[in-house]
Amino acid sequence: MTTSPILVTGGTGTLGRLVVPRLRDAGREVRVLSRHEHGAEEGISYVAVDLATGEGLDAALEGVRTVLHLAGGPKGDEGATRHLVAAAQRTGVRQLVHISVIGADRVPLAWFRMKLGAEQAVAESGIPWTVLRAAQFHDLALKVAESMAKLPVLPAPGGLRWQPVDARDVAARLVELTLGEPAGLVPDIAGPRVYRLDELSRGYLNSRGKHRLTLPVRVPGKVGRAYRAGENLSLHDTLLGTRTWEDFLAERVPAAG
Ligand SMILES: NC(=O)c1ccc[n+]([C@@H]2O[C@H](COP(=O)([O-])OP(=O)(O)OC[C@H]3O[C@@H](n4cnc5c(N)ncnc54)[C@H](OP(=O)(O)O)[C@@H]3O)[C@@H](O)[C@H]2O)c1
Repeated sequence: MTTSPILVTGGTGTLGRLVVPRLRDAGREVRVLSRHEHGAEEGISYVAVDLATGEGLDAALEGVRTVLHLAGGPKGDEGATRHLVAAAQRTGVRQLVHISVIGADRVPLAWFRMKLGAEQAVAESGIPWTVLRAAQFHDLALKVAESMAKLPVLPAPGGLRWQPVDARDVAARLVELTLGEPAGLVPDIAGPRVYRLDELSRGYLNSRGKHRLTLPVRVPGKVGRAYRAGENLSLHDTLLGTRTWEDFLAERVPAAG
């Protein structure tokens, strides 16, 4: 029986909140790293550390052999990951598991480059590692669809497609990887279907009983070209999640009355 706690950064986020109970169900003690203070629960303790500074990381990692690194934001992930990796090296961590995004090495946007930088920090750490690249979660697709629905017409960026995946499917896969042996860059995880962006929004609008006219738009430049070429997609050797966008909408969006 392994007794050392698993440190989960980002254990309070959309994905992390799904991962932590699954690790508990597997009988593991969990230490969640968050920027904020939280009260302990059965088998779950919290450490308050801001990865942007890394202050307090050595103490947070005391007795930890496995780190599941899920913390992330709009910026700063590479620096945050470098702080985490440096502390993990100092404290004798033996396994790093990290979530990244499909297209980290291909989509020419600063956020994707930052995710690639974070991946590289993990891969160059000298600590045995696993990196899983995931597609956009349904929760993010819902936020996008909700904001599109506020517009009088529905923008349809030609050729832009997503393969949204359910965060529960990603959480289950991460738990499997965290409890297994370090495996390097593993096959991507994506949702079971590819959708045009306007199809995702249309699905949301339909579920709300709303209608909009479509306005075709074109994403210019190299970013548009990368998306039209499907650089953000994973079509080969991909693990597919079990839940579709329609399944998610049926659960999350109350039927229009
Ligand atoms: N959402 C997607 O579609 C998607 C797709 C592929 C990959 N990913 C990656 O999956 C991971 C989780 O995404 P998510 O959607 O669950 O994110 P989220 O809901 O926005 O949660 C972000 C988490 O990161 C923590 N965090 C952020 N900045 C931090 C800092 N400086 N120090 C310590 N903790 C920090 C937050 O903790 P506190 O607020 O408690 O401090 C929170 O738990 C991220 O790395 C993201 O890039 C997401």
